Amino acid sequence: MRLLSLWGLLSAATLGLAGHLPPRNYSTHDYYAVHLSSSTSPTELAAHLGLTYEGPFGALEDHHVFKAPKHDNDVVDDAVQELKRRRRKREAGLDHHILDNVRFTQKQKIKPRHWKRSVIPDLKVARAGPDVPAAVNQQREIAQALEIKDPIFEEQWHIFNVKTPGNDINVTDVWMQGITGKNVTACIVDDGLDMDSEDLKDNFFAEGSYDFNDHVDLPKPRLSDDRHGTRCAGEVAAGRNNACGVGLAYDAKISGVRILSGDITDMDESLAINYELQKNDIYSCSWGPPDDGKTMQAPGILIEKAMITAIQQGRGGKGSIYVFAAGNGAASDDNCNFDGYTNSIYSITVGAIDKNNLHPYYSEACSAQLVVTYSSGSGDAIHTTDVGANKCTAQHGGTSAAGPIAVGVFALALQARPELTWRDMQWLTVMNAVPFDQPSDWTKTALDRMYSHQFGYGKLDAYAIVEAAKTWELVKPQAWFYSPWMHVKKAIPQGDQGLASVFEVTEQMLKDANFERVEHITLTMNVEHQRRGDLSVELISPSGMTSHLSTARRDDDAPYGYIDWTFMSVAHWGETGVGKWTVIVKDTKVNDKTGTFTDWKLRLWGECIDASKQKLRPMPTEHDDDDHNVIDDHPAHTTSIIVPSGTPATDIPSDLPTRPVNQKPTNTGQTAVSPSSTAAFESPISASSTPSATSSPDSFLPSPFPTFGVSKRTQIWIYGSIGLILVFCASLATYLYLARRKRLRSSRDNYEFEILDDADDDEGGARTGMLNGAASGRQGRRARRGGELYDAFAGESDEDLLSESEDGDGPYRDRDESPYNEKAHTHEGSDAGSNASGSSGGKRQ
Ligand SMILES: *[C@@H]1O[C@H](CO)[C@@H](O)[C@H](O)[C@H]1NC(C)=O
Ligand SMILES: *[C@@H]1O[C@H](CO)[C@@H](O)[C@H](O)[C@H]1NC(C)=O
Ligand SMILES: *[C@@H]1O[C@H](CO)[C@@H](O)[C@H](O)[C@H]1NC(C)=O
Repeated sequence: MRLLSLWGLLSAATLGLAGHLPPRNYSTHDYYAVHLSSSTSPTELAAHLGLTYEGPFGALEDHHVFKAPKHDNDVVDDAVQELKRRRRKREAGLDHHILDNVRFTQKQKIKPRHWKRSVIPDLKVARAGPDVPAAVNQQREIAQALEIKDPIFEEQWHIFNVKTPGNDINVTDVWMQGITGKNVTACIVDDGLDMDSEDLKDNFFAEGSYDFNDHVDLPKPRLSDDRHGTRCAGEVAAGRNNACGVGLAYDAKISGVRILSGDITDMDESLAINYELQKNDIYSCSWGPPDDGKTMQAPGILIEKAMITAIQQGRGGKGSIYVFAAGNGAASDDNCNFDGYTNSIYSITVGAIDKNNLHPYYSEACSAQLVVTYSSGSGDAIHTTDVGANKCTAQHGGTSAAGPIAVGVFALALQARPELTWRDMQWLTVMNAVPFDQPSDWTKTALDRMYSHQFGYGKLDAYAIVEAAKTWELVKPQAWFYSPWMHVKKAIPQGDQGLASVFEVTEQMLKDANFERVEHITLTMNVEHQRRGDLSVELISPSGMTSHLSTARRDDDAPYGYIDWTFMSVAHWGETGVGKWTVIVKDTKVNDKTGTFTDWKLRLWGECIDASKQKLRPMPTEHDDDDHNVIDDHPAHTTSIIVPSGTPATDIPSDLPTRPVNQKPTNTGQTAVSPSSTAAFESPISASSTPSATSSPDSFLPSPFPTFGVSKRTQIWIYGSIGLILVFCASLATYLYLARRKRLRSSRDNYEFEILDDADDDEGGARTGMLNGAASGRQGRRARRGGELYDAFAGESDEDLLSESEDGDGPYRDRDESPYNEKAHTHEGSDAGSNASGSSGGKRQ
């Protein structure tokens, strides 16, 4: 009793207060998200800066919302900068200033719209054959037993398929047990939810709902194309009644949070994505950055913090469940690892298969994809509720329609076993998804599960996952292990070759990290390249499992590579993590666009050894990855070698000359190469590197790293020397080019511009960077790193650069106008398995 009421108090304190913030009006006001140290009074800060205090920032601890009349300046950051300037001039009386308590500030900007992940199904394709009479009879018996009278129930093939029996979600025997989503709430984060629909009104849960576009309580669809959210809601929890069909969890409650139908900022999205996190159990997200094959975009730091808050505090501490649609860009070479939402370790990424278990042309593949389920293709689509009193649609499709089916299934699992944590749900998905007979790169994993980048661990089976949930032994808390930054700084060979770098994780390292076994791995990396779409990245684990972290994209012309981008993989689920992890970067196109692999950092996330010692992950800051050049005492052994395309780990020689590469780079930023660390060799093996060819359903890669012959060693040295000469020539050319640029700039502006001056970073210390806000200091620093080898300053006006050097905060403060930064990604949250971008994020066409 005592405990309960205490919990009530607690949850009242952490309940999303977003709905109680006054509505925002971006045409008249600016809004600031500010993180203050806990003892600081937000009203005092507001008074000091002449702002209006709006209230606490939802569930984010010590975060607050302020507003001010619209102004070009960032009044909070300006004040912070001014304080720093005056301190530098050693003005008196500035000790213990209230602005010192500002730990983070971000002026809110309208962000580019997310894309809804629906596709218009092609219904002209021949439909599947005739009904199977026995299946039709069975369907009728089920409907009768469950008293389902919904008019389109028989069309809902994803629930019960009478044409191709077995190609459905296998849910009816779960319903027969009375497991229908009772006491579970799913929140559809989308373009609205028609709460007046006959099919949804009984399950609609107003308390968990809000409209972040129009800033009113009810997320009513208002625009003519606000149908997406309602359709998704119908799939999850359309009622058992006389309207349309039923949802997978037809007795679950359903709420709606509206964000896709108007202007929003990172702040709104952050408030939306964990809205009422004690009342909403599952967040269904069938949207994301554009699936155009050229966007690389991740949630900003506020959104990432909101998700981490939800998985740590939501559902009474068991963690909110996030489900994201994988993305519809497969036909444009898109890959869900270029989307920081789908590749977050906190989200369950769901791709699509069609009613024939075929891969629909749109559904993206990636190593972050956990599972697939049914959606449009082969001449049919998902039949569900539509906007209107009693309206249905037979045309809901895309990965948008797959995600909510998974949401419905997870709602059933939660009814069966309310104590499942967010990671238990992922485990259950891994262990109970059903691999199926379609050609793909199915590979046996450490847990004896089959994994495919196209289909994840297979298709969701409601019966299987709910049965398993009932007796599932809950996992221990999450632990993590971070490698140091591995400095590679070498040119990437083109075509068939790749540049490999190895980090060895020892048993002791994991023991020290209280780390028992791997669930997710994330790999944050920097690659400089003149055409991002040419790159691909593979990660080979100690047990020989290959994750294709990144794949080439034909339309991705971005003239830089990866900037602190974090890739994620679920393909190593259950591995011990001990041994050599090899990352191989390839420049797949032989052309004049070249690049350099700068550095990388591996993170293992998984189950801890000793639950009593394990703490919650600290909230990420935007500076978590600022330690690129820190020399780490980890006994890291890394080797950079050039491997021919598709060389299995077995063929990477382990006895090459090695050197720890985590050593401090030279001041000039020139590529530091030691003769012994670059080598090439000819491999007698020429395997294809395409995922689909790497293995058959039964294959697995043998254990890696046998030794190599002496004569080959000689060759290695020869190639190594040639490589070195080439690198030297490239460095010289770069040096001459930069020197010329510098001359040009100085003569034009009569100002001495220092290309690689890090002094400013040191002066301000950590605080300087912190105060620069989400998309500031760090990105500036990263951009400068990017400038080391090629012209990352292109597109920046000299004024920006000069004023910034003057300011001492590094270039790119005014990053929003820079095409470079618009597409660049900071890495505030990269260790969260998701990346932070400035609120402007990725490229929009
Ligand atoms: C914002 O304020 C302006 C001016 O007062 C008003 O015309 C507009 O309707 C407001 N917008 C919203 C969304 O409240
Ligand atoms: C579906 O559920 C049934 C129980 O109703 C179970 O026996 C079966 O294994 C499940 N999977 C398939 C593919 O039928
Ligand atoms: C519903 O959930 C609440 C809290 O999660 C729990 O206390 C209650 O027993 C549940 N009710 C049912 C019928 O499962």
